[in-house]
Amino acid sequence: MATKIKRIGILTAGGDSPGLNAAIRGVGKAALGSYGMETVGFRDGFRGLVENRRINLDRAALSGILTVGGTILGTSRDKPHRMEIDGRTKDMTGVIKDNLRKWGIDCVVCLGGGGTQKSALRLHKAGINVITLPKTIDNDVAMTDASFGYATALDIATEAIDRLHSTAHSHHRIIVVEIMGHRAGWLTLGAGLAGGADVILIPEIPFDVEKIADAIGQRSKRGSNFSIVAVAEGAMSRDDARVFDAADKKLERAKSLNEKIEAKHAIAALEVRHQDNTLRLAHQLEELTHLESRVTILGHVQRGGTPNAADRILATRLGTACADFIAREKFGVMVAARGENAEPVPLDQVAGKRKSVPRDHPWAEAARRLGTCLGD
Ligand code: F6P
Repeated sequence: MATKIKRIGILTAGGDSPGLNAAIRGVGKAALGSYGMETVGFRDGFRGLVENRRINLDRAALSGILTVGGTILGTSRDKPHRMEIDGRTKDMTGVIKDNLRKWGIDCVVCLGGGGTQKSALRLHKAGINVITLPKTIDNDVAMTDASFGYATALDIATEAIDRLHSTAHSHHRIIVVEIMGHRAGWLTLGAGLAGGADVILIPEIPFDVEKIADAIGQRSKRGSNFSIVAVAEGAMSRDDARVFDAADKKLERAKSLNEKIEAKHAIAALEVRHQDNTLRLAHQLEELTHLESRVTILGHVQRGGTPNAADRILATRLGTACADFIAREKFGVMVAARGENAEPVPLDQVAGKRKSVPRDHPWAEAARRLGTCLGD
C-alpha cells in the first residue's frame, strides 16, 4: 500500500516495562519492511523531542532487541507541557511541533501508560500526528484488554510469592509482600491468586486490619500458622481511604490556583506518609496475631529483565498493527488489544481514565470463594 508517511519517530515514556523493545522492533520492522518508512527513535521520552536526541532505528538497530528488557531508547516521566528546562517549568509543545516540522517527522509513536496517553492527547490537540501503544506493568490503561509488561511482571511477582511460601511455612511467620501498583490492584490480585496468597489487599478495596488479623488467626486455629499477605503499594485501610478521598474531593472543588496548589500539597504529604504503609501493616499484624512478621518489597525487580512470551507476542502484534494504522494516517488513537485484534481507540477515550479492578471482578470472586481474605 502506498502511503504519504515517510518518516516516523518513536519514543518510550513513563516507567519502563518488559516488552518495550519488542514493540519498538514491531513498529520499526513493519514500517520499514511493509511501507519503506524511515524510523528514528527519540531518547528519554518527550525530552528527546525537545533536545533533539535521537538514534536511527535502521535494520541493524532493530535487530536483536526482542528479548532485551527495559527500553533501548531510555525513558523519563517528563511531560511536554510541563518540562523542567534550566530550572524552570515550561510548556514545550510549540518547540516540539517546530522541531518535528524541521526534521521532517510525519508522526510520533508514543509507547507508555496512563500519563503518556494524556501527554499524547495534548500533542494531538496541538496538531501533531501521534499514535500510542499501551504499556504498563499495572495493567490499568483504559480501553485495552491488555498492556505489555503486565504478563511478565505477573510471572515475577507470582514466583516471588511461591518462594516466600516455603520460608513463611518453615518459620511459622506472616510474610507481607508488597507488589507494585499505586492506583490499580491487577498485579497484586493476579499474583496473589496465582501464588495462593492468604490475604490480598488492593487499592480498590480498602481494608480493615482487624479483619485481616482475624483471618490469619482462623488459619492458625486450623493448623496453618503462617500466612502470605500480598499487598499492593497503593492499598490502604478504610480510615486512610477516607482521608485520601476527602483530599481528592478538595482538589476537585478547588477553584483558585492557590487552592489547587494547597490541595495538591496535602495529597503529596499523605502520599509520603503512606510510603511505610506496608511496614506499618506488618507491625500491626504482628501485634494483633502474635505471629512474627516479615516484609518483602518486590519493587523494581518486577519491571526488570526479559519479557515473557505473552508480552513479546502482545508487543509485536500491537507494534506491527501500529505501522499499518500509521500508513493509513490513523492518528490521535491508541492501538488497543481487543481479543486477538488490534483496534484504534481515540485518545480522548483513553486519556485521564483508569482501568481499575471492579470489586466483583471474577478474580476477586474466585479468591473469595477460596476463603482468601481481601481485607473487607
Ligand atoms: O506505573 C508503573 C509503576 O511501576 C507503578 O507500579 C509504580 O508504582 C511506579 O511505576 C514506580 O515508579 P518509579 O519507577 O518512578 O519508581
